[in-house]
Amino acid sequence: MSDSSKAVCYYHKNENSIITTMEMLKTSFAGLVLKNPLIVSSCGLTNNADNNARLAQAGAAAIVLKSVFEEQIVRESQHLAQTGAHTEEADYMQAYLQAGVLNEYITLIKQSKQRCDIPIIASINCNTPGNWEYFARAIEEAGADALELNVMSISTDIEAPYGAFEQRHIDILKAARKETRLPLIIKLGNNLSCPVRLINELYANGAAAVVLFNRFYHPDIDIDKMEYTAGHIFSEPADLSNALRWTGIASATVKNANIAVSGGIQNGKDIVKAILAGATAVEVCSAIYRHGDEWITTALGEIENWMHQNNFGSIASFAGKLNAKAPAHADNLERTQFLKYFGSHL
Ligand SMILES: Cc1cc2nc3c(=O)[nH]c(=O)nc-3n(C[C@H](O)[C@H](O)[C@H](O)COP(=O)(O)O)c2cc1C
Repeated sequence: MSDSSKAVCYYHKNENSIITTMEMLKTSFAGLVLKNPLIVSSCGLTNNADNNARLAQAGAAAIVLKSVFEEQIVRESQHLAQTGAHTEEADYMQAYLQAGVLNEYITLIKQSKQRCDIPIIASINCNTPGNWEYFARAIEEAGADALELNVMSISTDIEAPYGAFEQRHIDILKAARKETRLPLIIKLGNNLSCPVRLINELYANGAAAVVLFNRFYHPDIDIDKMEYTAGHIFSEPADLSNALRWTGIASATVKNANIAVSGGIQNGKDIVKAILAGATAVEVCSAIYRHGDEWITTALGEIENWMHQNNFGSIASFAGKLNAKAPAHADNLERTQFLKYFGSHL
């Protein structure tokens, strides 16, 4: 029997152990009480209420729906503006929601809420503050429990002033904040020069939590055809390291930081690592694409086993235990280790 299948058996051992598990894995993220730290991240798997019901059944604590793109929202609102389909703001919203993709998104939220007994988090993939934020209101009215803003942007302007890229994140958050009272989660890319300062400012401007980090599209090159191709779609174990570093640093330096790690999580032990670094939850999809919904149950069993073996009765009792508050841990996350490991290999 493999280690992971043992974990599943333990998880389902008897009714009492399930109750204990439910209690000991409890956590919170973005003001939401979660039954465990495992959130299914935004991806194609969460684009359908039937799938979401299965993910919830397998034990997921929350689901982030597939992102709707800023461009989709803007395109539909421009179409309505051109056709003169609105007179007042309320009519505008109504007409807007009757149109295409966004109406489908609202249906997805409503159906997922009906079918799942866990928080449903909507997601908007955005790049600029503009005229898409009012869709946040429709998302709130549809019953979503929170809204994740997936700020997917690459700064390529050679004349962009330093800090403008980060400021754009804050402007987006502020604009969305005006439209909705939902907890707002900001999913950041790993292309920031000083994530901790931005995270700090995001909290000051009303963010409820951050996700470290989004996975960008990875371009590759086919040298035979001499053209660009899609690189790895799913994450690899090595992707976890960067999120662990910044979670360890941000959870120690940003007051009341609430962080979910995303990227590179392959099993329950990786989830334990994320929590030790200072996260209170993780957002995962590659492992579920690769191994199916059962992976969720297995990973939860692995966390529980580790907690039993190490005498931790709650997630809070070890969250941040290895973050950068202790100078010895900071050394492992910052510059010193570069000298130690790479200095001797030069
Ligand atoms: C096929 C696929 C589709 C994705 N679509 C989205 C999306 O629509 N919105 C989003 O915020 N992230 C999206 N992501 C990123 C994931 O939500 C996640 O943050 C990232 O893949 C890292 O987690 P992982 O290592 O478990 O894959 C997608 C990832 C994959 C692999």
